[in-house]
Amino acid sequence: MKRPCCQKQSHPFCNYFTWTLSGENPTRLDATQISRDKMGMSDRLTTPQDPYERAPAPLSGHFRVPGDKSISHRALILAAMATGTSHITGLLEGDDVVATAEAMRQLGAEVSNLGDGLWEVKGCGPAGFKSPTDALNFGNSGTGARLVMGVVAGAGISAEFTGDASLSRRPMARVTKLLAQTGAQIVDKGTGRLPLTITGAAQPLPLDVTPEFASAQVKSAILLAGLGAPGKTIVREKHITRDHTENMLALFGAKISSQRSGAENIVTLDGHARLRAHDIVVPGDPSSAAFPLVAALIVPGSKLRLENVLLNPQRDGLIRVLTRMGADIKRCNERTEAGEPIADLDVSYGPLKGIEVDAEMAPSMIDEYPALAVAAAFAEGTTHMAGIGELRVKESDRLAAVEVGLRENGVRVEAGTDSLSVSGGSPMGGACVTTHDDHRIAMAFLVMGLATQKSVRVDDTTMIATSFPNFFEAMAGIGARFGI
Ligand code: S3P
Repeated sequence: MKRPCCQKQSHPFCNYFTWTLSGENPTRLDATQISRDKMGMSDRLTTPQDPYERAPAPLSGHFRVPGDKSISHRALILAAMATGTSHITGLLEGDDVVATAEAMRQLGAEVSNLGDGLWEVKGCGPAGFKSPTDALNFGNSGTGARLVMGVVAGAGISAEFTGDASLSRRPMARVTKLLAQTGAQIVDKGTGRLPLTITGAAQPLPLDVTPEFASAQVKSAILLAGLGAPGKTIVREKHITRDHTENMLALFGAKISSQRSGAENIVTLDGHARLRAHDIVVPGDPSSAAFPLVAALIVPGSKLRLENVLLNPQRDGLIRVLTRMGADIKRCNERTEAGEPIADLDVSYGPLKGIEVDAEMAPSMIDEYPALAVAAAFAEGTTHMAGIGELRVKESDRLAAVEVGLRENGVRVEAGTDSLSVSGGSPMGGACVTTHDDHRIAMAFLVMGLATQKSVRVDDTTMIATSFPNFFEAMAGIGARFGI
């Protein structure tokens, strides 16, 4: 039997994702079944019991985290700019990264998917890119669009940038205003948004800038443009952000250095760099690991090993915050790959307590706040997260989406212009969450529904494929049961 999700007009897809009540021989949703069903678009029986009277089963086992999205974009881009052939192992094959692969092909690189996460890129070398005939379409991906804007500005070519409805709402002026200082021409009809066209200067100027926002995308766009400029390009960060572009540029042979003082970071890149092909092994994405991690912390009795997780200090903020909240998370098998620290994480269910999360934490866990908010909803006391205004300009206004989703599922929550307070307990659930085409909102609330008293529904799951194409199979592998 299918339950209607909700009657709201704003939830047009809800009836696709309601729980279906079991018959007498309930079965667990298995991986093949999910892929056959294209992530939940069937009426198939999927849940072993009435979700309105359920006791969640503990999660257990090993979880192989998909490739890091940030590193996957950068590996494709730098390999395409380099001279020679690079192999990328463990590339995230989500829609966002596939859009960047396609953009690199349109600029002239030979990009081949050799299967099983192995990709080959034959780079164009310096000055080898050509202006594409068709627009570069980045779908949902802010990272792909913004980084490639830098590439185009530095390569002296011209390209039109487009994206889906969500990406077309996001601010691009934070990047284009700075790229214009290289001499690039930007045509965006005054919107500061996609669609827009960039024509790089024949001789781009090197920049010395202090970006207004703590943004690795802005920093990376400036550095990638600087590869085509003479002299030194300098980015002065008021607060250090993820440094994968710097790490990978060094691997590909660029001369780049970082000078850190407290949270401040000054990155200096020598221009007219000649990148040389380099093989990259992509580590697991901590932003995707956040979902099984939080699931294990809120579903009683759970015990998981998350394998191969990137633990770059600019990306491990969620783990540090959850540990302060009392979470039992142990790092093991620590190692280095592609210039990045990696480890497996052993995580066990246990009580969490609410804490203050300072604004300084935001750059190291900016994509993890929806998952943190869900963990906070199960903690004892209040968790206050400060300095997170940037969440309003992600794939959706995540502050608003999290606030509404938690409140409708029975959690006491308050969002300010750039903050969020969540008072935890034992959330009731029972509501359908509007995801606003945002993969992380969908995954966060699906995870929440594993431990609430009543099931939590989401209005759409298709966009999860942008960052975590096998989310349902992977979660099913540790015993998570999602209904349809
Ligand atoms: C990213 C940087 C962050 C993050 C995004 C990926 C990157 O965005 O939210 O998902 O790969 O550089 P900002 O740079 O806008 O903070």
